[in-house]
Formats: sequence, structure tokens, C-alpha cells
Amino acid sequence: MFVAANWKMNLDKKSILEFTKSLHKFKFSNQINTCIFPPMTYIDYLHNLINNLPISVGGQNCHYKSSGAFTGEVSANFLKDTGCEYVLVGHSERRIMNYENNDEIKSRAQTAINSNLKVILCVGEKLTDREEGKALEYIEKQINDCLPNNFKDLFIAYEPIWSIGTGKIPSAFEIQEMHSHIKKIVFRISNKYINVLYGGSVNTENIKEILKITNVDGVLVGGASLKAKDFLAIYSAAVKHLDTSS
Ligand code: 13P
Repeated sequence: MFVAANWKMNLDKKSILEFTKSLHKFKFSNQINTCIFPPMTYIDYLHNLINNLPISVGGQNCHYKSSGAFTGEVSANFLKDTGCEYVLVGHSERRIMNYENNDEIKSRAQTAINSNLKVILCVGEKLTDREEGKALEYIEKQINDCLPNNFKDLFIAYEPIWSIGTGKIPSAFEIQEMHSHIKKIVFRISNKYINVLYGGSVNTENIKEILKITNVDGVLVGGASLKAKDFLAIYSAAVKHLDTSS
């Protein structure tokens, strides 16, 4: 079970320090994998603050080259070097606002793997694809085009674009159907079983129901991960889910 927090372009040094004070008072479970993705500039800061806790730190993106003349970019090697264990690749906000295409995303994932980072590859359809009944087909193409050739520690996060930050989430059937579809596609391509996280408007209210859905192996949380209290409530719901389902 995975609980991941994507802080996006939020939280400064002062608020990160406050956040981590709550983490230090909390009792973590060894059954849950958890990772926080802070803004790039605070990776080192956060990593040092939570070094003794069972929480990993990750980058929100990495470049597709390992070094070179790419002003303003961050290499997977640097992420690894600064204490990251994970990296997000192909988040829809990067695809849409930074025009990252599938080819590039595949290269980013491959570069990250070469730097020994664990990759969370994000996929997700637009509302029109969902409404036109093309969501499964759309995601299949994204995975076919973006999945790196060789991987060991790779997760997929299914984040429907229309669900991010909107409070709208797909039905339990739609999530289960998509997660099982993703697992089948990845298995067909790579002969590997993959864990699939759900992301999009996950919060303290809906977490319990989301975790009950078949084939949901964890969550990637945006807005609701910005307050330590909510993040820890989501984490606790995951622990409780495991306790009741075992
Ligand atoms: P929200 O949880 O704010 O909808 O964001 C989801 C997301 O994009 C996580 O990567």
C-alpha cells in the first residue's frame, strides 16, 4: 500500500518545518510505503528534516538527459544525489503546461531508472475522452508510448485530468476497470505485475471508499496532502484499511 503526497508548487520552508513537526509526533506503520514530493528547491531541506522517519522523498519531475546545457532543468542523478528515492514522471500538469509528450516522458522514466530512482509514471484521460467512451483506449496508448523498456521499481498513477483539483472522482467501477486495464497492459508488454495508484481529488472523506476498490494499490494525493493533519488522516485510513482487510 502506497500513500504519496504531491505538494506541487506549494509550501515554503516555514510551512515545511511546521508540517514535519506533526510527522515527528506520529507513529508510522511499516506496512505503508510513503513518499512526499516537495518543490525541487526543498528536497534537501525536507530530506534532512525527516531522515529518521520511514518516509521517502521524491522529485516532481526530471529531465530526459542525465546532464548538459539545459538551463533550469533538473537531472535524475541530482535527485538521487540529494536523497530522492522516487520521481514522478508524466504528470498531466507537465504534459499540458510544459508540453511534455509521450516520447519525452518515456525518456525521462528511462533516465530516472538508470539513476536508480523508483518511478511513478502518471497517466490520465481528459473529460472528453471519458465522455466519448475512449478512456481505456487513451490510457492504453499512453502506456504503450511511455512505458520504459527495462524497469524494476515502477508504479503507475492513474490520475484522470478532469478529477485533479475538481472534487470529482470516477465511479468505483470506472477506477477498478481502469486499474485492471492498466495492470493487464503492463503485463502484456513487460511480463511484470505493476502496482497502480489512484490520484485525483483524494481527501479525508473519500479515502476509505477509494481504498476498498479492487486493484487500487495506493493513492497519489495533491491538495489534501498540504496539511499534515489531512495527510496523516489519509495515511491512517490506509493503515486501517490494511488492518481490516487482512
Ligand atoms: P488533487 O489531489 O489536488 O486533485 O491532485 C492530484 C494530483 O495531481 C496528484 O499528483
